[in-house]
Amino acid sequence: MSEVHVEDHSSLIKTPQQLIVVVVLAFVIPVVGIVMIASAITGGLKTEAAGDAGAVAERLKPVGTVVIGDVPAPAAGAQPAAAASGVKSSSGEPIKTAAAGGPGAGKKLYDTVCMACHAAGLAGAPKTGDKAAWKPRIATGKEALYNSALHGKNAMPPKGGSSAADADVKAAVDYLVGLAK
Ligand code: HEC
Repeated sequence: MSEVHVEDHSSLIKTPQQLIVVVVLAFVIPVVGIVMIASAITGGLKTEAAGDAGAVAERLKPVGTVVIGDVPAPAAGAQPAAAASGVKSSSGEPIKTAAAGGPGAGKKLYDTVCMACHAAGLAGAPKTGDKAAWKPRIATGKEALYNSALHGKNAMPPKGGSSAADADVKAAVDYLVGLAK
């Protein structure tokens, strides 16, 4: 009676062979699925990393660079009209750069290099605009100050650690001295 009852339940799996096939498929299908998903993810990453290392480096590079001293020739293709010696604005007037000397050179060099220490008076640097700190130094004469700025003095590195032109360093000294008078 009970056997008949069991037989009445229809099942898709009727033989041991079918059972084996079902068990094997139940194991293989999820594995294949996982492998496909994993390869889709890592395959994508591989394309990104190995595809073009240059493109990645390009995206990771800093936005700008600070150039002190001689301005290198502009990159090929970029502003072909701007020669290394005299960058021109659209109106044709030369734009003053830190390397170009001129009245703004001292302030520019100060803003990019000297300010790092002198604005806050770091490492015992005479603070910018601090008349009391600068007075005895100014009293030693411009040449002495130029000499210290160009060749260094104690914690003050030569040219503030930059490779600026001598004239620009002197202009920066003038600028500092001017602010402290
Ligand atoms: C790394 C920090 C640092 C930077 C950058 C720096 N200075 Fe100085 N500077 C000093 C310190 C420290 C002193 C004080 C040195 C001393 O008298 O012992 C000093 C002193 C000076 C003096 C006085 C020298 C004297 O004979 O009394 C001048 C002028 C000067 N700096 C100019 C400059 C100029 C111009 C720049 C930028 C080109 C610059 N400094 C960048 C740290 C710095």
